[in-house]
Amino acid sequence: MSRTVYVNGEYLPEEEAKISIFDRAFLMADGVYEVTSVLGGKLIDFEGHAVRLQRSMTELEMVAPCTKEELLEIHRELVKLNEIEDGLIYLQVTRGSAGDRDFMFPDPETTKPTIVLFTQNKPGLANSPAVQNGLKIISIDDIRWGRRDIKTTQLLYPSMGKMAAKKAGCDDAWMIEDGFVTEGTSNNAYFIKGNKIVTRALSTDILHGITRAAVLRFAQEAQMEVEERNFTIEEAQAADEAFVTSASTFVMPVVEIDGKAIGDGAPGSKALRLREIYLDESLKAAI
Ligand code: PDD
Repeated sequence: MSRTVYVNGEYLPEEEAKISIFDRAFLMADGVYEVTSVLGGKLIDFEGHAVRLQRSMTELEMVAPCTKEELLEIHRELVKLNEIEDGLIYLQVTRGSAGDRDFMFPDPETTKPTIVLFTQNKPGLANSPAVQNGLKIISIDDIRWGRRDIKTTQLLYPSMGKMAAKKAGCDDAWMIEDGFVTEGTSNNAYFIKGNKIVTRALSTDILHGITRAAVLRFAQEAQMEVEERNFTIEEAQAADEAFVTSASTFVMPVVEIDGKAIGDGAPGSKALRLREIYLDESLKAAI
């Protein structure tokens, strides 16, 4: 069945949705995006995603295509039109099309941003079988640009990282810069030692994960210690547990890093408990 998608003010069947070949996201990756999960027909962490989207646009001097209230309305309408119970909503805003290729930003007075949203139906998203197995991770160099706090559509290197992981018989990659783990290709990275969760501190080096913020808050409420600092792959390999967080995987255990089993090689009990708490609390707050 064809999806109904949203493009610049219109709800359309996906086959009829069109964007200019001169759109700057197509020519320059001049676009920002968000992925929001839907559970039980409701939006998880919508506020956090909307605030981060605005921050990404501000950092790139992009003009917002609509208000936060309108964005919420579009999200809800797409959930309704596509009958999404569990799944994801992908949102992208670009600097639009000035009708030609030019490195210079077009005048926002005459070139309007492009906004696109579509749904991905994923029944049982919160009960992914991957949780039982845990993820196998490889490490790769982090050669991305220096503003990873801005959620841009420049995703070629993360895609290459996921392909490298697949070729190695693994599930994903963690990236390393100057000897320290930055983050996963599409998630934030953590290890647990004793009662302490360690994850890299926020800076321009990593995306400020919306799931990360919630999970660290819940961890502290659950009397776990949180340490935000640089860490190495070796430290994570020697940990009791490891995990990643993102809007699409929530809290996902990691069981192997560069061929070395983490703990007893099975998903850790603390990571699974954090997942449970995150899902419970997020469902309560879903809108
Ligand atoms: N990725 N780090 C990177 C590089 C990411 O791409 C993502 C999200 C995260 C986690 O952020 P959040 O918790 O706000 O989802 C961290 C999304 C899910 C994606 O690209 O599909």
